[in-house]
Formats: sequence, structure tokens, C-alpha cells
Amino acid sequence: MSVIDEVKQKIDIVDLVSGYATLQKAGRNFRALCPFHGEKTPSFFVFPERQSWHCFGSCGTGGDIFSFVMRKENVDFGEALRRLAERAGVQLAPVSPRVEEEKEEVLKLRQINLLAAQFFHNALVNTEEARPVRQYLEKRGVSTPSVEGFQLGYAPKGWDHLLNYLKGKGYPEKEVVAAGLAIERESGGRHDRFRYRLIFPIRDGKGNVAGFGGRSLDDTMPKYLNSPQTVIFDKSGLLYGLDRAGPAIRKADQAIIVEGYMDVIIAHQYTFSNVVASMGTALSEKHIFSLKKLTRNVVLALDPDTAGETATLRGLEVAAEAFDQKTVPVPSWDDSIRYERVLDAEIKVGVLPPGNDPDELIIKSSQEWEAVIKAAKPLTDYVFDVAASRYDLSSAAGKSKAAEYLLGVIDQIKEPIRRMHYLQKLARLVQVEEKSLEAIISRKSAAPFKKTGFQQGPAASPATPTTRGVVSRPLEAYCLAMLLRWPELREDAVELTPELFESSENRVIFEGWLASPDLDSVKERTIPSLREHLAGLLGRTFPASAPEERQKALKDCILQLRERYLKSLKVKESIVLAGPPGDDQPRIIENIKTNRELKELQEKRCIPRGKKTRG
Ligand code: UTP
Ligand code: MN
Repeated sequence: MSVIDEVKQKIDIVDLVSGYATLQKAGRNFRALCPFHGEKTPSFFVFPERQSWHCFGSCGTGGDIFSFVMRKENVDFGEALRRLAERAGVQLAPVSPRVEEEKEEVLKLRQINLLAAQFFHNALVNTEEARPVRQYLEKRGVSTPSVEGFQLGYAPKGWDHLLNYLKGKGYPEKEVVAAGLAIERESGGRHDRFRYRLIFPIRDGKGNVAGFGGRSLDDTMPKYLNSPQTVIFDKSGLLYGLDRAGPAIRKADQAIIVEGYMDVIIAHQYTFSNVVASMGTALSEKHIFSLKKLTRNVVLALDPDTAGETATLRGLEVAAEAFDQKTVPVPSWDDSIRYERVLDAEIKVGVLPPGNDPDELIIKSSQEWEAVIKAAKPLTDYVFDVAASRYDLSSAAGKSKAAEYLLGVIDQIKEPIRRMHYLQKLARLVQVEEKSLEAIISRKSAAPFKKTGFQQGPAASPATPTTRGVVSRPLEAYCLAMLLRWPELREDAVELTPELFESSENRVIFEGWLASPDLDSVKERTIPSLREHLAGLLGRTFPASAPEERQKALKDCILQLRERYLKSLKVKESIVLAGPPGDDQPRIIENIKTNRELKELQEKRCIPRGKKTRG
């Protein structure tokens, strides 16, 4: 979660605003005399469910917690974020000067790692001492081109071969330690981290050496020793082999994730070049993030031991979240249309035959390996299999546990047809009528809507810490991402205005875009605290599309944003009008205008307006 989201989650807009204005309850919302301008009739509203505010008086504007502080304290977004983060107890990363420093540190680390990789490689290929290691590789089926291509290496016996080599290249010992290539003795003095090990240089997606894995050549533990965490080495986020697998993944439109270094090397050697390794860690959001520019189809090749592990499953759920999600309209309980994010990607699981690592299986039989990948099942089906093997489905207790677990999984699926499919599957699995499962699940997912509460005034906000502030704005982000990606869409965006963005982080970036001639100046204009958010927008992937399709998508997006805005005005207007009589004439006119415009918009988009049959 970004710091911005974290702050949003920790600060309730009702609490925040009540520090500046006396709030009175107005239905599910709150009203107050506007803290921004003098008035006698309250026209300032706070909407806890959307975590937003709006002044219907002379301000005529609204937003979220950040824009409230920006306006009230007359500060920019960065400063508002800083103050609110402090209030929320959220740590902000230090910015600007550090960024430069880090850049230098990164370059230095890469350089020293590159030299080390060359040193290890030379030791493997050219020294007499490494002869048994070369034989070991041969025995494992690794060819000479693979040794070269992956730049495999050998860390010699002894304590300071690499250390001396790097010192000779002008690196002080301290820096070798900082790069994770040497270890500081408690008694003083330093020695090589990797000694008598087979070395796998680990590269990032662009081919920079980020760190090393060193396989034990005797019984020394651990089996694999890895570089420690540095600015450029985060083992939980890197995928081994990605620098070489990129084009193949794109071409096959599929990435296969295995666990080990050796598995990747052998797979590539046998022309399965779209294989990368998670290096033994559970699949994470970071892994998926580095893949999603290349493909949306991921197959995990798991061995049967790991297969049942809950930790792996948890990792998978997280990973699924990290894929771009597309927004689909979902009919809602009150006949309106709600937009939900559904996963726009497929994660499949292939289970290896017992006792085989991918490298062994591939060498034994390429066909068998291909069959495993081909037979890979969608994640949800795989989860069903795991549940079926874990619980005793012949007993009532087992059925009930399995159902509870799987209903939780199904409830994550938003896309109606897939959801139905798995409900049916569960019904068959536990031999219970589908209808009763539906009843359970609708009770489960209806629960959040029932939490409207608010009886105790501002202090007891109904928005729980897990839901508040995560009123996500996928449309806003989608719209912005399109504009940033395709400059030629600028002409099609004339109807897009800052107030259509409820989230300050989107609004501020949009304003920057409005004022910029090109992407570089958008980047320059973006203040450091928003760079992460901007990077997220720039990193989004879109399916291949023709220019007209993009235009259409953008137009539709803008229409939806305007519709949302007008709808919210309409809700808010009717609350205002239901309030004490005052100088309401202009607002009534506004309201009529809003209604008419909304109707026109909906006709344009062909949305059936609320069904009237049932009331
Ligand atoms: P494995 O134990 O399955 O090793 O760990 P492997 O890759 O099959 O190695 P071989 O075939 O016996 O030579 C899978 C991966 O988990 C990470 C490594 O990335 C390894 O490739 N790992 C494993 C570690 O980082 N440290 C360890 O101690 C063990
Ligand atoms: Mn292995």
C-alpha cells in the first residue's frame, strides 16, 4: 500500500473536519457551516462513505482529506501529505537529497557486483581449482553456452580472494562489505562472504547484477547462500532469469515460474526460455509487478510438497491482487450500477510429478514437462483441489470447513459468471444445494452494507480501518494512465476537469498534466511525494488497441466520471434541499440542471435508469 493510501486509511474525514467545524448529523452524512467561507445556512457536507466533502455554497467545490487540508491550511499536496502523515503516525520516506545519493549508491553497487561476477566466472572457467565444479555442472547437464550465458561462477576456497581483487580495483573494504560481498569479523578484519561455492549472479530485469546466490559444494549449510538485502538486491522481488526470459515471455504471452536457479538454466537450455525463478520465496506482488508489462498469463510450476502450503496460497492471493484489474459494471442492490475491479489476468498452477525438480523432469522428458504446463489449472480450481485433499469431505465437519474456506475464496471473485461457475463447483463438491450456498455468500458479502451505524456521532465512524479510505477510484486512475500513455488523446480530454477527480493524488497529477506540454514536464512537475503514484500510473499496461479504440475508451471513461460527479451532486443537492429553508433558489435550478444533464449522459451511455417495477 502506498503511503498516501495508508494515510487515507488511518484518518477519518469526519474526525479531521470536526477539528475545524461543528458537524451536525444529516442522515448518513454531516453538515456544517462552511469552514472556508462565512455563511449562515450550513452548506458544507461531509460524506463518510466516500470519505469526501463538498461545499454547496459559494465555494462550490469538494474533495478528500488532502484537498481539505490544502485548502484550509493553504498548502500544497506535499505539505498536506506531510501533516496528515504525521497526524496518522505514518512514516514518510525522506525525499530529494537522498534520491541523488541513492542513485550514486546504486551505480556503485552495480559496478562492484559486475566486477565480482566477472571474477567468479573467470575462476570457474579458467582455474585448475574449479575443475571438479565444472565436472559437477556437466553432471547436472549444464552446457558450456549456459555457463557462459548465465555467467555462472566459482567462489574459490580461502578467505580473501575476491576482497583482494576488488581492493586492487580501487574499492575500499568497507564498500565490499556494503555490497554484501564480504563480511565484517567481530574481532575486526573482513573476509569473503562466498567461499567454495558455485555462483549464480542474480540480475534484475534489465540485466544489472543485483546480487548472488552461492550453492554449497560440500555439506556446508546453508545449501544456498545469498547476498544480503541492499538497495539493489531484494530477493523477495527479483525473478531469476528475467533479463533473459523477457522476449520469450512476451512472445509466448506466458511466464512460467519455478523455484530454483538450476531449473531456470536447464529450462532455457532446452528452449523453454519463458521460465524464471522466484528463488524459493513465495510469489509476491513485486514479482507480478515486474511481469505484468510482459504478460498476464502466469503458470506456477510447483512441486507436490509446496503445493499444499498455505503460505504459497497466501502469496498467490496477494499476487492476484497485483495484476491490473479491469473495471466492470455490476448491477447493485439498489438498482444502480456499481463498478467493480475484477482480475484481468490468469494465474495457473501446474503440479510436478513427485520427486522431480523441473530441471530433472526437463532433462528426463521435455514432453512430460510440457504436459505439466499444459495441464496447469486456474488458481481457483487448484485451490479447490487443495481443499478437497485437506478436508475429509465424507464428514459433516469436513464439508463445513471446506465450504467455509472456499466460500471465502469465491467471494473474492467479482465477475458474475466465474463466480457462479465456482459456486456450482462447490455445491457439487460438498453436495449441498447451490441455493443454500448462495444464501450464505450473499449474507457474507451483504454485511458491509449493513454497517451504516453512525449513532454515536463523529467519534464512532462506521468506516472500519480496513475499508475506510480505500474507496478505490479505478476509473480516475485508468483515465489518467491513458492520458499519460497516449499524448495524442489530449484533444479528446477537453471535457475532463480537475473536480471530476475525487482523489487528491489523481487530481494533482491531472492538474500537472493540464499544465504540461509533454510527459517529461509532467514528471518534473510532480512533487516527490507523488512520484510513486505517478510511477504506478505510468506502469499500467493496456491491451493492444487501435487509436480509435483508445479514443472511445477515454471518452467512455470521462462520461462515467462525469456521471459519477453529477450523481454525487444530485445526492448532495437533495440533502441540501431537504435541509432548513434558506436561499435555495439557485440550488433548485442547479438541481434541475443536474438532473437533466445526468439523464442526457445516461441516454448517451444507454444505461437503463432504475427499474421501477418493484416499488
Ligand atoms: P531448492 O532447495 O529446491 O534447490 O531451492 P534447487 O534449486 O533445487 O537446487 P539443486 O537442484 O539442489 O541444486 C530452490 C531455490 O530456493 C532458494 C534458491 O534460489 C534455490 O534455487 N534457496 C534454497 C535459497 O535461497 N536458500 C536455501 O538455503 C535453499
Ligand atoms: Mn533442484
